[in-house]
Amino acid sequence: MTKRFRIGSLVVLGILLVCSSLSASMFTKEEYAARRARLMEKIPDGVAIILGAKSLVSYYEYYQNNDFVYFTGVEIPDAILVIDGIRRESVLFSTITERGARNEGISLDYVRKPKQVTGIERVYPREYISTYLSRLGEMSQIFYTSFKPEELMRECSQEKLRIIQRNMVFDGWDGRLTREQQFVKLLRERFPQVEVRDCSQKIWELRIIKSPAEIEILRKAARIAVKAHIEMMKTTRSGMHEYELAALYEYLVKKEGAQNLAYYAIICSGENHPYLHYYKHDRLLQDGDFLVIDVGPDFGYYDIDITISYPVNGKFTPRQKEVYEACNAVHEACLQVYKPGLTLKQCRQKVQEILEEQGYDLTKNYFKRMRGGFGHYVGLAVHDVGGGPTVLKPGMVFANEPLCVFPAENLGVRVEDTILITEDGCENLTAGIPRTVEEIEALMKKPGIIQMLKRARLY
Ligand code: GLY
Ligand code: MN
Ligand code: MN
Repeated sequence: MTKRFRIGSLVVLGILLVCSSLSASMFTKEEYAARRARLMEKIPDGVAIILGAKSLVSYYEYYQNNDFVYFTGVEIPDAILVIDGIRRESVLFSTITERGARNEGISLDYVRKPKQVTGIERVYPREYISTYLSRLGEMSQIFYTSFKPEELMRECSQEKLRIIQRNMVFDGWDGRLTREQQFVKLLRERFPQVEVRDCSQKIWELRIIKSPAEIEILRKAARIAVKAHIEMMKTTRSGMHEYELAALYEYLVKKEGAQNLAYYAIICSGENHPYLHYYKHDRLLQDGDFLVIDVGPDFGYYDIDITISYPVNGKFTPRQKEVYEACNAVHEACLQVYKPGLTLKQCRQKVQEILEEQGYDLTKNYFKRMRGGFGHYVGLAVHDVGGGPTVLKPGMVFANEPLCVFPAENLGVRVEDTILITEDGCENLTAGIPRTVEEIEALMKKPGIIQMLKRARLY
């Protein structure tokens, strides 16, 4: 739904035109200022214009896009941020009414004293942006902006680009540009004297390395996720529908403060194992089924990526056990190996050595079919920006996610945790999930929430 509101007669016009910031900012204003300062260092010759997410035309909750929230924490729709690398200052353009702020859950303190709250040097009504850019265009020779698509809730920039190109840009019956391409086009038309450059990569370089404050948020998100995954294992029984598990997970993480799921709950069982992102939740779980659940929360815009794999009836068959243990052994070996300074190729080599020392026969089909190890960065997006590392560095956070699928056997296994590279090794942010066969089987003997409610005849 469009979130524009008439200015009420009780509200002072001046306040209404001045804009505000995030309702529940996760970080101090110094943290945001430090992020903007790091971008300024990368653009000493120009000015970056960062577009915020537009107001919605649907009944989805509004979320800010990831770059904008990264630099400001501001959740006001339709805002624009200028990060000026030449004058070393930032300017926020945004407008929201007091009523609009209340509707969005944005604190009125932020509406009334935006500069104090955000720490952004200057804040102007959104309507001033054209005049401001015209002045900037006379003073600056380079405008930077992101050429890659913004990431909204549950979106990942690179994947979004591929899909928009297919659906719009290169579709002969569509042909629309992405929002960012359109913006670049307008900048070039309106400021022909200015060079317009892409700063996506520069922002991604910042986002790849998580600050101590971001790591704390990720640890908190991880604890929420782990607790929910453990409950999922305990509560799973044959005769349940996949959609019950999906709904339960969402309840469990939201109960702990997650604002959303980081991505739809991927639940694969039976014939759906080969479709590694199957999410229809339409199977009735049966005795003998092997289950893969890949789901994680979004907590304060930070995502967690976890996969658990286990038998629905709580008892591994010999075949399920051997494939699962091989996959988990690869996962565990990766965690022993990851440390700063190594390339992924070096990591793979060391993992192989560890598995051989442990006596695994690497010619077995499940090792030959095994994919993964490092999967993708994790952060504000679940498949976070930046591609993959040339060498591991402290502050990188990524999913380690070996997987192995045997379609003819209705069997798929995936083991996934969210990992932080530390100064001298790595930290499994999502540690605490039962991962050995013995741990899983012991846990699944315990009653979960659903069984307890049923036993007590409460539900
Ligand atoms: N959660 C999606 C993935 O692991 O690719
Ligand atoms: Mn995953
Ligand atoms: Mn993943």
